[in-house]
Amino acid sequence: MDPLILGIFQSLSPNGTVGSAWQHPDDRSADFTDLDHWIRLARMFEEARLDLLFLADSYGFPALDGELIPASVKEGRGIPGGDPMPLVTALAAATERLGFILTASTTVEPPAANARRFATLDHFTKGRIGWNIVTGSSGATAADLMGKALVPHDERYDMADDYLALDLALWEDSWADDALVRDKATNTYADPAGVRMITHDGPYFRSRGILNLPPSPQRTPLLVQAGTSGRGMRFAGEHAEAVFVAGGAPERVARNIAAIRQAAVEAGRSPSAVKVLVGALFLVGPTEEAAQRTHREMLAMSTPEGAAAIFAGNTGVDLLALDPDQPLAQQRTELGLSNLQRYLGRDGRPGPTVREIIEDFRVTGINGSVFVGTGASVADQVEEFVRTTGADGFLIQPHMTPGTYEDLIEYLLPVLRARGLARDEYVGDTLRERFFGPGHRRLPAELRRNAGAVTTVS
Ligand SMILES: Cc1cc2nc3c(=O)[nH]c(=O)nc-3n(C[C@H](O)[C@H](O)[C@H](O)COP(=O)(O)O)c2cc1C
Repeated sequence: MDPLILGIFQSLSPNGTVGSAWQHPDDRSADFTDLDHWIRLARMFEEARLDLLFLADSYGFPALDGELIPASVKEGRGIPGGDPMPLVTALAAATERLGFILTASTTVEPPAANARRFATLDHFTKGRIGWNIVTGSSGATAADLMGKALVPHDERYDMADDYLALDLALWEDSWADDALVRDKATNTYADPAGVRMITHDGPYFRSRGILNLPPSPQRTPLLVQAGTSGRGMRFAGEHAEAVFVAGGAPERVARNIAAIRQAAVEAGRSPSAVKVLVGALFLVGPTEEAAQRTHREMLAMSTPEGAAAIFAGNTGVDLLALDPDQPLAQQRTELGLSNLQRYLGRDGRPGPTVREIIEDFRVTGINGSVFVGTGASVADQVEEFVRTTGADGFLIQPHMTPGTYEDLIEYLLPVLRARGLARDEYVGDTLRERFFGPGHRRLPAELRRNAGAVTTVS
């Protein structure tokens, strides 16, 4: 088994993915507006040689029929949420090797603005940046906020194809490798012959211009995707270098991972061209009893109302308004599909009842997998999970910040390292090299090809 890719899951908000742990005296998540809080965390992750910090984000927030959900506001779940983009510049200065993956939706800002921002971040981080390309799981509120119409679910991915094609052209084609000259003696900053106009005339986006920035170490940020609907997986197969999937029953995660690798093959790529990281919680302690106590404490801070609010914001389905003893009748939504599909019946068998769904979502949240125990027992569970699912790594989600991570670093990492399941030194300078090995700094040619040809370079 190869060493795992280990990333940290955080967002600029007072809570993690299960419950409202911000209320615990030891939890510091509510300091998310304080830059020092983030610098301390980033340094801790780098010292532990964890691969990357992922910052989830959405312009949307939990709502039902256009109205706020009181439990969401009261408990700080899904509301509030800050913009991770400015944060990363500070964290890049405070660290040297830690990678960063930032979420940006293809439904909000124009593609050229996104390209310029990520190019700037790739410079400032010296190639340690990745882009989690989302089509917006809380799309309805984000669309309202931006004064836009909500685009139907699958069409959002068609738009994302077009968006990405333009961004890739800007990153990869606008500047020739030798266009940046910087010769003071001749006042030649750049070679005009090497800076090229990009013309894009796609089904959703039109643009003519340049990336107004010389090439950065990776040019294109590491491309990441995180939606496991059928259309989402096709997008991942065609374009993503890494995919985040929700955890849960190993058989379901294995099925999702196999489907993503199959989508890559159908897009003319190798199944291992996509690295899959599973969102999971690790509650690790010095003894089994201490870890179980932490788990019980976590669940005591997770309410059905808070869980239902997050589910509603993500899927548009109000579980609290449904018959608790029936399975879900709704099969589709124009919001996020993954969390709905997670609870539908399969192969003629009915899905769980609404009561069971609320309880499962209360206990596992949007991540799904919860590993509890001592370092050795969690390492055993991890090995078994990876063997069953074929995952390449994990996104480590917080119960408590920073406690969850401190425990993981103290109790689990040494065991994983002893078993060859975690690295003790960073490999590669850029984030892409962290995923694919030294020398893999640039976007693979096949991904440039898959982006299509509605763009011309002149
Ligand atoms: C680990 C993980 C992290 C995610 N992070 C975000 C995020 O930061 N912002 C967001 O809008 N959606 C996020 N999602 C949700 C998906 O990206 C996607 O938008 C949602 O599932 C809807 O797409 P789908 O219908 O294809 O599943 C995340 C999902 C997972 C599993």
